[in-house]
Amino acid sequence: MELIDGNAIANDLLKELSKKVESFENQKPCVAFVRVGQDPASVSYVRKKENTAAKVGIESRLLIFAETITEDQLLREISLLNEDYGVHGILVQAPLPPHMDERKIFNHVSPLKDVDGFNATNLGLLCQENQDAFASCTPAGILELLKRTEVDTTGKHVVVLGRSLIVGKPVGMLLLQKNRPGNATVTYCHSGTPDLANHTLQADILIAAIGKPLFVDRSMVKQGAIVIDVGINRIPDNTRKSGFRLVGDVNFEEVAPLTSLITPVPGGVGPMTVAMLMRNTVKAYEKSLQAGMAL
Ligand code: GUN
Repeated sequence: MELIDGNAIANDLLKELSKKVESFENQKPCVAFVRVGQDPASVSYVRKKENTAAKVGIESRLLIFAETITEDQLLREISLLNEDYGVHGILVQAPLPPHMDERKIFNHVSPLKDVDGFNATNLGLLCQENQDAFASCTPAGILELLKRTEVDTTGKHVVVLGRSLIVGKPVGMLLLQKNRPGNATVTYCHSGTPDLANHTLQADILIAAIGKPLFVDRSMVKQGAIVIDVGINRIPDNTRKSGFRLVGDVNFEEVAPLTSLITPVPGGVGPMTVAMLMRNTVKAYEKSLQAGMAL
């Protein structure tokens, strides 16, 4: 068993991006973070994204709105960011409060600034295998991990556990693409799939993205499989000052000895998500220059 070190791979990527950003002579890329409410995980993720942007030389703006903001008000705020030439990327942190239609909000972000890749245009372009589209950050990060660990996905059987718009659906779409890494046979499993283990045991590459702590156990994994754990779950832990610890969707202790490669939590997919957001922001900046939109 070998660990896939997401921190090290993300750091390499961030160094490459820093160099690129340094070479931009006038205006720097700028990403706007939109956060609604005080969900502790969202507060922590957005802080991490802000800090990473600063490290790479990307500017950021943070807009925080009360939980009570209406959907119309939030749509107006997004319109202002869409029209702002000084902002190249827009990220609306999920989850949003229950009175909002998340898809409507994501679809309102300009496709040219949609660094999360959540809106219908970019998801559609992704299905068309358009390399110019913004691919959402966690799926793109998983592909980059596989690429930089020299995993050949061609002809491999990938089983994706989960069908979310943010991870499950797009990661399967990316792995279906003819490009490398891709060209895999993809099976999607979800809460409506009977006899899950029957499917997961056939996976050469198992991607767990269901948000259920320690769900994947040793009975579900084939000897020698590659396991990518997307889960970041907080579970109570009185021995920690914070009162919680982070675990993945995979029972790492049980499953790791069976695998050829596995991502840890934390330090696996998480840092790659943030790194890909930076890469998408630089891409959005470059697109804006091509379109003659930058100041
Ligand atoms: N919530 C959980 N993951 C993500 C992500 O990648 N982007 C945004 N905007 N919200 C999230």
